[in-house]
Amino acid sequence: MIDRVLLSEEAISCRLDVLASEIDLAYAGREILAVGILKGSVFFLTDLLKRLKTPVSVDFLQVRSYTGTSSSGNIQLVRDLSMDVAGRDVLLFEDVVDTGLTLRKILELLQSRGPASLGIAALLKKDLPENADIPVGFLGFTIGSEFVVGYGLDLDERYRNLPYVAVWDPTR
Ligand code: IMP
Repeated sequence: MIDRVLLSEEAISCRLDVLASEIDLAYAGREILAVGILKGSVFFLTDLLKRLKTPVSVDFLQVRSYTGTSSSGNIQLVRDLSMDVAGRDVLLFEDVVDTGLTLRKILELLQSRGPASLGIAALLKKDLPENADIPVGFLGFTIGSEFVVGYGLDLDERYRNLPYVAVWDPTR
């Protein structure tokens, strides 16, 4: 079912070096509250945070929206943050921005709690008109509309531990 490697381990690693420098520059003199959206962002978040010089705290939240390879459009909060985001410089970590529904919902939720700032770091963004207005300040790669797995991304909980991002082809 794995069609081809889209982003190799080396390509991801090089891009994370650049993103970490950009984040350090943008948050100079401040402290980041990194918020990972479970479960897909975990590999991206941990590998990126290890490269940062900026002080960080980490928290996680979890939403549910996907069944198989399509978004249900109905986003439920499964696990909330354990930390208060009020007055903090919050940086959200997302694995892939597809329709943008998940991030829209989470941005709305966290914005209502009064953070000092609310930024987004995403490993991938699909090149789709519906997510064009999602302000991803720190983006790994823009990809097509294909369904991808690996490096945290799953298909019904499988393939997350692949060290690269691959295209999943149901016809193979
Ligand atoms: P959105 O709400 O449509 O932007 O979808 C975001 C979430 O859907 C991501 O955090 C993933 O969990 C999941 N998702 C979207 N596209 C893919 C994909 O190509 N592979 C694996 N998961 C995906």
